[in-house]
Amino acid sequence: MIKVGIVGASGYTGVELVKLIACHPNATIGAVTSNTYKDQSLTDIFPAMRGFENLVCEALDIDALAKKTDVVFLALPHKISMEHAPRFLERGVKVIDLSADFRFSNAKAYESAYQTHSAKDILKKSVYGLSEIYRNQIKECEIVGNPGCYPTSILLPLIPLLENGLIRTKGIICDSKSGVSGAGRSLSLAAHFCEANESFTPYKVGNHRHTPEIEELLSLHAKENLHITFVPHLLPLTRGMLSTIYVQALDTVAEKDIRKTYEKYYEQEAFIRIFRKDAFPQIAYVKGTNCCDIGFHFDESSKQITIISAIDNLLKGAAGQAVQNMNILFGLDEKQGLDIIQGAL
Ligand SMILES: NC(=O)c1ccc[n+]([C@@H]2O[C@H](COP(=O)([O-])OP(=O)(O)OC[C@H]3O[C@@H](n4cnc5c(N)ncnc54)[C@H](OP(=O)(O)O)[C@@H]3O)[C@@H](O)[C@H]2O)c1
Repeated sequence: MIKVGIVGASGYTGVELVKLIACHPNATIGAVTSNTYKDQSLTDIFPAMRGFENLVCEALDIDALAKKTDVVFLALPHKISMEHAPRFLERGVKVIDLSADFRFSNAKAYESAYQTHSAKDILKKSVYGLSEIYRNQIKECEIVGNPGCYPTSILLPLIPLLENGLIRTKGIICDSKSGVSGAGRSLSLAAHFCEANESFTPYKVGNHRHTPEIEELLSLHAKENLHITFVPHLLPLTRGMLSTIYVQALDTVAEKDIRKTYEKYYEQEAFIRIFRKDAFPQIAYVKGTNCCDIGFHFDESSKQITIISAIDNLLKGAAGQAVQNMNILFGLDEKQGLDIIQGAL
């Protein structure tokens, strides 16, 4: 049994990790932490979590945690993760970090969007945890930088098209919408019920922190420096994320080329579902699953491709993909602990 520590179990992604690991056939929870809720059980923090009365949060003590875990999930805000990750690695504990701290290969790109990186040596060793694309590197690594939720919903549909040279690299527009849990559990005015309910709000237009993460990865797969227009929106939903992506196909490309590329690229992937012609993903289909659903419309006369992708931001966009990465790290079937959950509809 793999012994797992969940650091930041009182947060939204942390509690999703607790639920997933509790049902995992080859992993067990060694410890959960929360500084705010120290000595309180998961059931005290989340009354809906009946049956977790004995799972009590401890304050974060790295030595104590390292003794009882093989791997830790850091479900922490950025900056805090990079303070702790090196200390776990020094003690032989693998790290799957859900923050942005270990997602970039270029420290300058990270620093342009966040703050000074204080663990650049570790950053060099970390592998970007987009499971379907980087599983071979993840297998061999000690630390995974789990992708952001918006990047996951954008990179999975775009990488196959870029790698196969089917689309133009200029003028890519990503119009994305997220449920409110994407902002985490800590209080903020934008996430206030009266601000979010019955509204639909663009935010951080032109300067969202996920833009450099998406651009770094797309550029790598396109083999050229690439810039996108990324516009995130807040939806009055608890969870779920949908991205509508507008790209231009090359003149020689036909609809069948795009379909064939997707079907071949993701043929073996349990969590990527390519939709048939004229059918499109919806948030309700992926809610509660680790799936990324992808559908597209191709306009033959203009060569415009409109791609729709949907994920559950807390699962494929965070905790689900993190568990998928743990399975890869420990040589398990990637679906373990994740195949029991199904879409709501
Ligand atoms: N929400 C999403 O959909 C999503 C998707 C992808 C990635 N992420 C990323 O995943 C990470 C966690 O997100 P979340 O939504 O779960 O956040 P959250 O709900 O706000 O939870 C944050 C957790 O971090 C802990 N924490 C905060 N400051 C801390 C500190 N100084 N030292 C130790 N623990 C501290 C909190 O614990 P206590 O206050 O109880 O100690 C809490 O458990 C973030 O980096 C986020 O960007 C989130």
